[in-house]
Amino acid sequence: MAKADIIFDQAQQIFHLRNEKISYIMGISEGEILTHLYFGRRISSYHGTRDYLRYERGLSPNLAGAPGQVDRHYSKDVLPQEFAGNQTGDFRSPAIIIKAADGALATDFRYDSWEVFAGKPELVGLPQAYVKDTNEAQTLAITLKDKTLQASVILYYTIYAERAVITRSTQVINNSENIFYIEKVASLQLDMPKRDMDVISFPGSQFHERQVERQKLRQGITEFGSRRGASSHHMNPFVIAVDATTTEQSGEAYGIQLVYSGNHQFTFEKDYIDQIRLVSGINEDGFSWQLKPNDHFQSPEAILVYSDAGLNGMSQTYHHLLRERVARGQHQYQDRPIVINNWEATYFDFNAQKIEDILDEAAPLGIEMFVLDDGWFGQRDDDERSLGDWYEYTSKLADGGGLRGLSEKVHAKNMKFGLWFEPEMISKNSDLYQQHPDYALQIPNRPMSLSRDQYVLDFSRPEVVENIYQQMTAILDRVPIDYIKWDMNRHMTEVHSAILSADQQGEVSHRYILGVYNLVEGLTTRYPEILMEGCSSGGGRFDAGMLYYFPQTWTSDSTDAAERIKIQYGTTFGYPVSNMTAHVAAVPNPQTQRHISLKTRGDVASSGVFGYELNVQELTQGEKDLVKEQIAFYKKHRHLIQFGDFYRLKNPFTSNEAAWEFVSPDGSDVLVYHFRMLASGQQPFTITKLVNLIPDGVYVDQATGERFTGDELMYVGRYDDPTQAGDYVSQVRSYYLD
Ligand code: GLA
Repeated sequence: MAKADIIFDQAQQIFHLRNEKISYIMGISEGEILTHLYFGRRISSYHGTRDYLRYERGLSPNLAGAPGQVDRHYSKDVLPQEFAGNQTGDFRSPAIIIKAADGALATDFRYDSWEVFAGKPELVGLPQAYVKDTNEAQTLAITLKDKTLQASVILYYTIYAERAVITRSTQVINNSENIFYIEKVASLQLDMPKRDMDVISFPGSQFHERQVERQKLRQGITEFGSRRGASSHHMNPFVIAVDATTTEQSGEAYGIQLVYSGNHQFTFEKDYIDQIRLVSGINEDGFSWQLKPNDHFQSPEAILVYSDAGLNGMSQTYHHLLRERVARGQHQYQDRPIVINNWEATYFDFNAQKIEDILDEAAPLGIEMFVLDDGWFGQRDDDERSLGDWYEYTSKLADGGGLRGLSEKVHAKNMKFGLWFEPEMISKNSDLYQQHPDYALQIPNRPMSLSRDQYVLDFSRPEVVENIYQQMTAILDRVPIDYIKWDMNRHMTEVHSAILSADQQGEVSHRYILGVYNLVEGLTTRYPEILMEGCSSGGGRFDAGMLYYFPQTWTSDSTDAAERIKIQYGTTFGYPVSNMTAHVAAVPNPQTQRHISLKTRGDVASSGVFGYELNVQELTQGEKDLVKEQIAFYKKHRHLIQFGDFYRLKNPFTSNEAAWEFVSPDGSDVLVYHFRMLASGQQPFTITKLVNLIPDGVYVDQATGERFTGDELMYVGRYDDPTQAGDYVSQVRSYYLD
């Protein structure tokens, strides 16, 4: 097995974290400042190539000391560092701000000591990448101290033996006798020398998540983040820094992903000599954490990935890490069932008969799981009521024997049964609100903002989390349930908790997320057999944090195939296909009113964790036959799609086409999807070239029997079918190695 090494070179005063793919090098510089030297492709050893040059620069302060005694050629303001302080000589974005008892906001953490552990220490109460065996990784913990504050920071760096990954997190400890307040703490800082770089981010909105935006980094601050209380549709907690020349298949890329589902922040700062700094972690806006003497605060984790094989190379590393060492539980490697969900078929308006009719149609098509969406609890006939009342709406399904009866019926058809919950919310019109109005986040004497007619529960309070846990377990203990869709349909306003003191209100958003993690950890531990899917008005909490608990996530409330091609394409930069659920919906599409053929809708959805979200009773016989074929196709290729290697081939954001490829790890089984967006009166001939095949292997087209060598398919490429008429057409080719 390959090894991860962590070397401390006493003579050079450097740390070198190294495996066969990457090197990460830091130094202890004058004044015990922990400097950043290098992160990139592995080197065998370091001999000072990046030791920082001494150069006097006006308006960049020198270290504190007696006049005439300090080096005027040495300034923290330009020095690449690992964890920059505030107001102590570096004017760039700091990694840490602490408000001391006297109100001062300065921080200056200097190197103190280091320790190496086999494996990876657990971050209690937080999602994280893990190891199964301590040989898989090594962890370096570097302690820095601010002597004035009497505070320590421990920077954790884990290097995996066989992955181009470094995970990072930060712990802050109060060694003083006074309370202080952490106003900002980064999970990581990454400084880089002058370089012509772009940053790729994944902004969006509901129905439009993870769009791919690439922009040049310029001097000043470029920032991405969320202040919504959730990682959000609007800015995914994942960015990529690339050279201006990097493409999907070549060049260097640095991925930075937070394993966190709350407010986040990625600050890039290009300084006055074009050096680049990235600082990332919990969003500092609205954040303030009271730290008592001897107490500590643990930041969320960040996953850093390096690739010298372009963006696809980087995505491969994330796909493997997230699938193998972030996702957990019984379902981690299990083929995921094909779902039918009643939401777009019935919305709130269902009864036992309507559901049974759907089941009667769905089962013979080969669908494997039925999910009862919103509307089965309290008095929930519309979205204005009953969130927080997680007990059965008995009259709604009465004729079918209630939820239990429905579960039995579903199981009798050899299907699995799933149920929708939105545990973090409360409707004003609910029993829970009548009993505990203070359970909703609110500021006394200030009107409470509504969103989708609901409020957010104060999950920073353990008793609120416990109340929901008790309600949910009462249902789950009584009704045989195989799957939960966990929704979250609004963002936080009036962020204030009834039980925290005035100077702790800046803790609410983070405590809320810890409350969510605590609840899902409790439920997944108690019901390991239940497959859980995260959802937040579609893909509003599609992040590595939720993936630690839920092995799959609803990618978007947009089920329009044209929009979905882009959303799914963008999602795969940072997340594995096994995490990305995708359903075929009816036409005209409920969100866009667009008509796209059932074939293309099936091809787009079958590129993820597959299912249907339409009224099967309304399908014609011809459509049912096609659905049966789609399901049979998916079952045949499901393992390859969900757990094979995935490569993006053609970019729908910059062209009229999209293409992607699934290939089994041994290169023997290949599926290629090609989509053409708009038709042209003079259709150009397009070619799709494959990647990562065995060059001299012979690949047989399963449909036609034609034979091609791997190198021909990769370097010459094959024409796409130009004959299909109309917009949004798709073609799927599958090959096996002879
Ligand atoms: C959210 C989800 C949908 C559906 C509805 C139900 O919008 O994303 O899939 O579950 O809630 O209210």
